[in-house]
Amino acid sequence: MWYPFSFAQSHLVSSPSLLRHYSHTDPPPLSPAMAVVSPSFSAQISGGTTFSGLRRSDAVVSFVHHSNSSLRLVSSPCRQPPRGVVAMAGTGKFFVGGNWKCNGTKDSITKLVSDLNNAKLETNVDVVVAPPFVYIDQVKSSLTDRIEISAQNSWVGKGGAFTGEISVEQLKDMGCKWVILGHSERRHVIGENDEFIGKKAAYALSEGLGVIACIGEKLEEREAGKTFDVCFQQLKAFADAVPSWDDIVVAYEPVWAIGTGKVASPQQAQEVHVAVRDWLKKNVSEEVASKTRIIYGGSVNGGNCSELAKEEDIDGFLVGGASLKGPEFAAIVNSAVEKKVAA
Ligand code: PGA
Repeated sequence: MWYPFSFAQSHLVSSPSLLRHYSHTDPPPLSPAMAVVSPSFSAQISGGTTFSGLRRSDAVVSFVHHSNSSLRLVSSPCRQPPRGVVAMAGTGKFFVGGNWKCNGTKDSITKLVSDLNNAKLETNVDVVVAPPFVYIDQVKSSLTDRIEISAQNSWVGKGGAFTGEISVEQLKDMGCKWVILGHSERRHVIGENDEFIGKKAAYALSEGLGVIACIGEKLEEREAGKTFDVCFQQLKAFADAVPSWDDIVVAYEPVWAIGTGKVASPQQAQEVHVAVRDWLKKNVSEEVASKTRIIYGGSVNGGNCSELAKEEDIDGFLVGGASLKGPEFAAIVNSAVEKKVAA
């Protein structure tokens, strides 16, 4: 019995149903040495296997072990041979957001919108772009309705005497459906803290905006073995503040990977995404852990998106620099095809 690509690449595979039942304390029942792919099965997969859906059948289960703030994952085959494989552990739809940050002019945005309008996008993907505030109206009135609009920030409560801020009500009035909150540039450049970000999320949700909730560790935190501590603390701040996770997408964005060209490896991203899903299961609910999209951000581009998308707990991307180029952003959206089942 052998398992295809992502299992072979990382040993980090998990099953959609079994993932939600693994334990941090159970010993792995089988040797990691079993986590080896058959070249012949790989060849079958790459050799014209048809795809029939977006959900992988149960084939393997992962066991996650925390030790000194680092994760070790080993995998164990199930008894049934795999009928098909899809790289998707959560049950949410693939989600790709383009964060344009503080970039663009009326002219460059006209061109970007035109490129996006002309792009062929996979149907089964939620696609969102976040223009700078001042161009939201231009984008909303010229961009295809296929793509939703997000803000890059919002005020923590109802609008009023808050010079320079933009309220959730105003964003809704302009046609926004989403807001990015907790982005590392707001945390570490502007100085927003966990509690403030949590309050912003709660207010935005209460007014009907979806929230792209960003978390992620700095390089020194990763090097100090604190990746999970940092991510869990940031998650907790959201969890403590929000009444529901229905309209939240979690974006794991390691700060060292943002805008640096140093993308996390698929294995590094998958490791944290598994841990985030597990945290949600333990601290919110099994249902929320399953349906919440956990997307990856940090130097995602047209060249690396496919390998990342193959990882089971990567439910999409938040894209900065590469989202400023329409065709490349479309290619990233379309990496959702990596989630299809090998029947
Ligand atoms: P990047 O930015 O893709 O340019 O690294 C990602 C982000 O900040 O959301």
